[in-house]
Amino acid sequence: MKPDRKAWLAGGSASCTPPPQRNGIPRRLVLLGAPGVGKGTQAELLCANLGACHLSTGDIFRAAKALDSSQLTPALKAALVYMRKGELVPDETVLAMVKERVACLRCDGGFLLDGFPRTVAQAEALDKLLASQKLTLDAVLSYDLPLEQVVARLSGRRTCPNCKAVFHIEARPPKVPGICDHCGGKLYQREDDRPESIRVRMEAYERSTAPLADFYRRRHLLVSVPAEGSPEAIYERTMQALKARA
Ligand code: AP5
Repeated sequence: MKPDRKAWLAGGSASCTPPPQRNGIPRRLVLLGAPGVGKGTQAELLCANLGACHLSTGDIFRAAKALDSSQLTPALKAALVYMRKGELVPDETVLAMVKERVACLRCDGGFLLDGFPRTVAQAEALDKLLASQKLTLDAVLSYDLPLEQVVARLSGRRTCPNCKAVFHIEARPPKVPGICDHCGGKLYQREDDRPESIRVRMEAYERSTAPLADFYRRRHLLVSVPAEGSPEAIYERTMQALKARA
């Protein structure tokens, strides 16, 4: 059974049930790639195999969206507006959230950071945060796919509001249309998967996140993985690339 990621999604004193289990040497990885390239899908497959926890900053914001607005700080309320439009949330807000969850970086099972870092300033802050915990990254997986295929993946995506599982209406359909295979939740289409938000997200990616490939290449951490083909084929490619580095 996979942990519910409570410590990451809720922050504060929340803890995961069941607690994450160490599965061999803990892996500490970052996933890079355009919105919709399949990072979350790969994270699910990789976590199941490596025992690492899926730490997605986007999932924290989406979990916050489900809260009553009286429970949200002004910074978090503003973050949800940025997100709806497809713009990046300001670095200070994201960094405050990650720092509040620093225990997740020390997780016994290791971690896969998905959606963070997204700017050079965030990557530099992550370096400092890891150093303060005496931790290092094993690798940064960068998934590459032509833009038109990325947009097709985004527009057919459906997500479970309860367990956050991700489907695609054609490439990865649920067994029963509109219903999550894992928990029976009613699948929905993300607000930021509308065409106007997709355009803004792609621009933000090119401007702010794509330069991170060079940032990590210079640190000899970058592992490029072609993201064509089925999720399982990409997963196999990823594992081979990780083994080749070991
Ligand atoms: P976030 O949640 O991080 O979204 P994202 O990076 O835009 O990535 P996605 O979740 O959209 O895509 P993915 O690559 O995980 O693809 P998936 O596996 O779902 O961020 C959302 C927003 O939050 C940002 O825009 C920003 O506003 C804010 N934010 C978050 N972090 C931030 C930060 N650090 N700084 C500032 N702002 C931040 O796959 C997509 C679809 O394709 C699915 O339907 C899937 O089933 C399908 N699929 C996957 N693999 C395949 C395949 N091989 N073949 C066919 N279909 C496939």
